[in-house]
Amino acid sequence: MFNLEELDIIDEIIKKRGLASKIFINREVLHPDYVPDSLPHRETEIRKLADILVVSAKGERPSNVLLYGLTGTGKTVVAKYVVKKLAEKASSIGTKMNCAYVNTRKIDTPYKVLATVASSIGLRIPYTGLAISEVYRKYVNALESWSGLHIVILDEIDYFVKRNGDDLLYKLLRVNEDLSKSKVSIIGITNNLYFIENLDPRVKSSLGEEEIFFPPYNADQLFTILKQRAEKAFNPNVINDSVISYCAALAAREHGDARRALDLLRVSGEIAEREGASEVTIEHVKKAILEIEEGRIYQSIVTLPLQQKLILKAIVELVSRKGSTTTGEVYNLYVDIAKKYGLEPLSMRSVSQVISQLDMMGIVIADVRSMGRHGLTKVIKVKEDVIKVVGEVMKNIA
Ligand SMILES: Nc1ncnc2c1ncn2[C@@H]1O[C@H](COP(=O)(O)OP(=O)(O)OP(=O)(O)O)[C@@H](O)[C@H]1O
Ligand SMILES: [Mg+2]
Repeated sequence: MFNLEELDIIDEIIKKRGLASKIFINREVLHPDYVPDSLPHRETEIRKLADILVVSAKGERPSNVLLYGLTGTGKTVVAKYVVKKLAEKASSIGTKMNCAYVNTRKIDTPYKVLATVASSIGLRIPYTGLAISEVYRKYVNALESWSGLHIVILDEIDYFVKRNGDDLLYKLLRVNEDLSKSKVSIIGITNNLYFIENLDPRVKSSLGEEEIFFPPYNADQLFTILKQRAEKAFNPNVINDSVISYCAALAAREHGDARRALDLLRVSGEIAEREGASEVTIEHVKKAILEIEEGRIYQSIVTLPLQQKLILKAIVELVSRKGSTTTGEVYNLYVDIAKKYGLEPLSMRSVSQVISQLDMMGIVIADVRSMGRHGLTKVIKVKEDVIKVVGEVMKNIA
């Protein structure tokens, strides 16, 4: 419970900052999981998927479908959109049809995937403790007593197969052989084209009974998508078309990734709001690019193993002092740091390998130079923004 004084403080802050945002009416609309009412420039893909799945509204089993295409091309949102509409239709005409959605990158073990799939037809599986074959048997039994059509969306399936192999996928693709009163269809989604090529042929042919490719968006298409969202997300007159079109053009530069475009728009709005501005400008978008990039660097540094973080710490200390450094200098300083942390230092060879890896990840820049008769060394530099992020990350480790 608050006491009166605390309430006064909160009131004071609310009075000063206001609860209503000058920038946003509804920022949820820019959230990556939001499913809009219409999906511009995906009519073809929606039509193809709906054509395949439409029989499900009558309770008939549609073919399995594989959706593939680069990141941010609308695969997840189209799958959720079409299935939601069909489920509504099915329920309105009394068809027993249900859908399970699992992001197998987040829910990443066969046990948890099956438990999540089963929970959508009301079966509770304990969090751990059963053999996977037992979980499967329970799912099959539950399907039989439920007697309906189960559509199972397995998103980001390449991550799952890479980590766990294709046993569960294979089993789910054949589950209909164990069923007489119920049916299951699988929608697999991936942005890894290489994954499809390398799938076991049996899995490939049955998962890919039908395939739908999602092409990247161009800048004009991204503009329409952003505009539709901006109208719902921002207050009137807060953002003009030239700013939206700038975001669209930037996101279209690598490949037309709608997620990246929406992130840019959201972060630009948040920066404008933090600054107390009444409009979102191109300057805010430029700042948003830097902030998003910094976030990306932060993620890649924060997830490094401790020894690698310490090597990076040594590099950053030396580069801050003298502009650039070499493998030998890094090694000496790193050994001291590792000892301070009570760790057994890695060998010179391993440290050199870690430096190459950091170079490949774009965290440091390492050029190999000849030192005459002393052989080769790496001259290592680090960009300003990395130095800043390493400082923050190192603050948080003991
Ligand atoms: N045609 C569209 N209209 C409106 N919003 C869209 C459209 N296409 C994509 N989006 C939005 O862009 C974001 C990315 O789309 P989505 O998550 O479906 O991409 P994806 O193809 O599944 O990418 P990934 O392979 O990285 O998972 C989502 O927030 C989604 O709502
Ligand atoms: Mg997706």
